[in-house]
Amino acid sequence: MARVVARTPLAPVAAFPKRAVRVARHLGQVGSRTFKWLFTSREHTNYTFELTPTNLEHLCWLIATVAGTDVATIRAHVDEIDGGDFRERVRATAHRSPRRYMWDAEVRLGSRIGWYALVRAVKPQHVVEAGIDKGLGTAILAEAIRVNSAEGHPGRITAIDINPEAGDLVVGSEWEDVVNLVHDDSVTVLQGLGGPVDLFIHDSVYTDEHEQAELDALLPLLSDRAVMMNARAATTLVLPRMAESRGWNYLSFQEQPDGHWFTGDSVGIAWR
Ligand SMILES: C[S@@+](CC[C@H](N)C(=O)[O-])C[C@H]1O[C@@H](n2cnc3c(N)ncnc32)[C@H](O)[C@@H]1O
Repeated sequence: MARVVARTPLAPVAAFPKRAVRVARHLGQVGSRTFKWLFTSREHTNYTFELTPTNLEHLCWLIATVAGTDVATIRAHVDEIDGGDFRERVRATAHRSPRRYMWDAEVRLGSRIGWYALVRAVKPQHVVEAGIDKGLGTAILAEAIRVNSAEGHPGRITAIDINPEAGDLVVGSEWEDVVNLVHDDSVTVLQGLGGPVDLFIHDSVYTDEHEQAELDALLPLLSDRAVMMNARAATTLVLPRMAESRGWNYLSFQEQPDGHWFTGDSVGIAWR
């Protein structure tokens, strides 16, 4: 009977109840996640989440490709940060800060775990992060730099944000010694910055104009092994265009948040 209906104009009508049940189930799931988040989270911007296990595995493969190393090495770096006490140390530090009421009880790292693995793998001497917010990304970068330093590969971070309160997680913390926090417009700071820069993370203003101005200021400072990242790559094509014009490689990665209503950002990476 169904096969007969499928060949008639009644086919969409017959399929409607099944489709309606699917939509109702989907809305129910989204609704329950969203309402739970509304009443349990304190975040109003720069949402934090963990990646699904499969998505994290995909991120390991991406970082292995960029770093030119095997994926087992990257997984080991991921396990180092994921299985250690980093989240607990961030939580304890954040909950001592004056802006502690801005933090959720749970610390979620998302694709910043990939930042950690990349820094552990390529051992940059100078990392620049444009856009800091509370300082979670800065802290995870600093954690990787500190472990590298203990293994004989020292490095430092220049972290830039226009908000004078940004990066308060790092101020006075165990991560502060490898971080130079600069509170100003990122383009202005990059125009006066000394090189070389081995890793740049664009996470400030997601417009073509601002990202292009950051890259224009940064390009003369890049080292021969530099890697450039855009933490919100879905919004502009500035980085892949720069990569193509210079014969660099470019890949992007779509985040899949685990159990969050937010659908995730995409991360773009360019490297030689
Ligand atoms: C998404 S947040 C950065 C997130 C951070 N990298 C992390 O890992 O959590 C974006 C930040 O860009 C900063 N910002 C906005 N305009 C800026 C500018 N012109 N120069 C530097 N930072 C800027 C904002 O104050 C905000 O803290």
